[in-house]
Amino acid sequence: MADMAKLILDGKEYQLPVVRGSEGEVGLDISKLRAQSGAITLDPGFGNTGACNSAITFLDGEQGILRYRGYKIEDLCKNSTFLEVAHLLINGALPTGEQNKEWHHHITHHSMIKEDIKRYWDAWPQTAHPMALLSSVVSALSTFYEDSFDVFDPRQVEISIHRLLAKIPTVAAYAYKKSVGQPYIYPKNSLGYTENFLRMMFAMPTEDYEVNPILAQALDQILILHADHEQNCSTSTVRMVGSSHANLFASVAAGVCALWGPLHGGANQEVLEMLELIQKDGGNVDKYVAKAKDKDDHFRLYGFGHRVYKNFDPRATILKETAKGVLKTLGVQDPLLEVAQKLEEIALKDPYFIEKKLYPNVDFYSGIIYKAMGFPTKMFPVLFAMGRLPGWIAQWKEMIESPETKIGRPRQIYTGANVREYVPLSKR
Ligand code: SDX
Repeated sequence: MADMAKLILDGKEYQLPVVRGSEGEVGLDISKLRAQSGAITLDPGFGNTGACNSAITFLDGEQGILRYRGYKIEDLCKNSTFLEVAHLLINGALPTGEQNKEWHHHITHHSMIKEDIKRYWDAWPQTAHPMALLSSVVSALSTFYEDSFDVFDPRQVEISIHRLLAKIPTVAAYAYKKSVGQPYIYPKNSLGYTENFLRMMFAMPTEDYEVNPILAQALDQILILHADHEQNCSTSTVRMVGSSHANLFASVAAGVCALWGPLHGGANQEVLEMLELIQKDGGNVDKYVAKAKDKDDHFRLYGFGHRVYKNFDPRATILKETAKGVLKTLGVQDPLLEVAQKLEEIALKDPYFIEKKLYPNVDFYSGIIYKAMGFPTKMFPVLFAMGRLPGWIAQWKEMIESPETKIGRPRQIYTGANVREYVPLSKR
């Protein structure tokens, strides 16, 4: 007898098939519920609703586990590189020597963007937020690549993947150069992925620039930590947009917009601004913890809390150590690190945070590292997007290739007016 759950509604009994994941997760298949019972389910924010079966990333919020295609995030951070992890997420396996060489070759040789794209930049104010530039340019890139829109042609999908992975660092660095009024620095094919990005960000045409290998390695590790996170808000957006068979550029551009929100990828920028606010206010951490707990106060402790992690975010644990290492390498004493550590210490002892299971998340420490590396705060969400790109691509590809996929179209419970007759203006 197949695994079934029973639902009793208005005295009638319905059987719901039970699905079980490879890590023991249990789901109720309600795909025939409305046809059988006329009822739908309601779950604002989808905290209890699985949107898909996926073989890419496994999270266990209670145990603080994060694995990409079965590999522990801690092992990948220690032994792998961001580009290799991108291959793992997108193609389902760590690349062989030959595959690795080919993968690097393709991505290195697609890193330039069409010169015409710079004209977009000229039209925008220098103060434009780089996430606005990133989402616009990712979408605009597709205007040059109408040859690769067919989402069911593996060759066209493959070259779109190469182009996006290769060009995002260039677009991100150009967005920064635009904001500081400096000339764009072209990618250099002799450099690795993350090194190339750091050089495009911080080099000047007037002199040679040597990337600090320790910083390049630290940033590469941070990008690995951000690479995927199953069905988070921006990834669900990429899947939703892609479910209409929109091309990969359009789907990723939508993901960038969703990530920008301060509750999601924009939180790393908010964390830094929050720490600076607390520091300016004499480091009065208790005051801000009290504000975060006050129901009538909109203030939130950015960098705390997570929909899935109700114990600790394994990425925050790694980033906390990385922050110390980077600051030590750079010989930087950032008072914000002390404020962050004091905030974490107080919050983790406070009953409100304990009861609501609010722990530091991936965004809590990343901003301190980015600031020490010289990135302006507005660039922090862009760095998150760079890291998350392979995850968005992998999830979009899995969705497009899955025979289960249908266009995303949720239902609703209508709570508005019942039918009423039109009243002409003369009678209103
Ligand atoms: C990311 O989904 C992912 O995987 C996302 C991400 C990824 O890799 O893709 O991990 C990246 O987005 C990390 C989260 C970054 N956001 C922040 O740091 C913003 C601050 N955190 C929150 O706004 C909140 O914790 C969320 C948005 C992260 C999670 O929201 P939920 O799951 O909807 O939880 P909730 O807002 O319902 O909070 C539960 C309770 C509420 O109190 P009650 O209504 O039950 O009384 O906890 C409170 C909230 O008010 N709460 C906080 C808080 N976070 C939640 N109170 C103070 N400070 C906070 N940070």
